[in-house]
Amino acid sequence: ARHLLGIEPLHPTEITELLDTAQRYAELNRHGRAPRDVLAGLTQINMFFENSTRTQASFEIAGKRLGADVMNMAMQASSLKKGETLIDTALTLNAMRPDLLVVRHPNSGAVDLLAQKVNCAVLNAGDGRHEHPTQALLDALTIRRAKGRLHRLSIAICGDIAHSRVARSNIMLLGKMENRIRLIAPPTLMPSGVAEFGVEVFDDMEEGLKDVDVVMMLRLQKERMDGGFIPSEREYFHRYGLDAAKLAHAKPDAIVMHPGPMNRGVEIDGTIADDINRSVIQEQVEMGVAVRMAAMDLLARNMRAARDQTGVMA
Ligand code: CP
Repeated sequence: ARHLLGIEPLHPTEITELLDTAQRYAELNRHGRAPRDVLAGLTQINMFFENSTRTQASFEIAGKRLGADVMNMAMQASSLKKGETLIDTALTLNAMRPDLLVVRHPNSGAVDLLAQKVNCAVLNAGDGRHEHPTQALLDALTIRRAKGRLHRLSIAICGDIAHSRVARSNIMLLGKMENRIRLIAPPTLMPSGVAEFGVEVFDDMEEGLKDVDVVMMLRLQKERMDGGFIPSEREYFHRYGLDAAKLAHAKPDAIVMHPGPMNRGVEIDGTIADDINRSVIQEQVEMGVAVRMAAMDLLARNMRAARDQTGVMA
């Protein structure tokens, strides 16, 4: 494929290829050095129209480790402030001939639209409530490393499912890999129509967490609740926050995940988040770099193959 816009179009064999490549980069990041010629001569532009710590930093580190020339567009200081549109901004940057555009945008579908207007590879770094494909891939790699497999696991995704692109991408990826998915949320934060994804739906944490292998917590995304019902944090933590008592219903070796940024005392108890025997939250961040290296490596290979086929020099 030319772009990485979502998990939806990926075949399980493509997911496995991405994870295998990411696993090799994870080992090199820990114990060696990734080859700096993989993206040498390529220009990567990161365009984040929405705040980010993990995704932006890891895409930048990933590009630099593989030898790309990386530029972070300071969107707050760009001509968007003077009224330039998303598409005109993209066309302007496209004219500078980048090879990889990494884009985060608050509107669902904005990254797909942008990808249709440019002639370089586009990676979706999160668009509205739609998809966050590299997050789902790094979650999958973290699960595979902790559990030794990525199939026939019982996985609970808990919290604000309705506003979560992380949940959407994970439901698709983990479903494609034949896992059993349980969604746990208050009815106000459970989107309608989720049953068609072949998931089980719960509004009670103790019931939903029973005997699961993986507990994936989500942030309460108040910024996307645009005037709708916002639960009280105290009440929410009492019913849906992950604490030791609720976690005791999962398997004794269940791992705890959170994509970050996390709100301690809202969706997760700080002591659970910091428990190195259960929590893999820091490993998720580490795998984020490896997965983004793998994604850009594979897209760059596809790009070079396409250029070779059309006789254009890479
Ligand atoms: N998980 C995630 O996307 O985090 P950031 O918003 O910090 O990039």
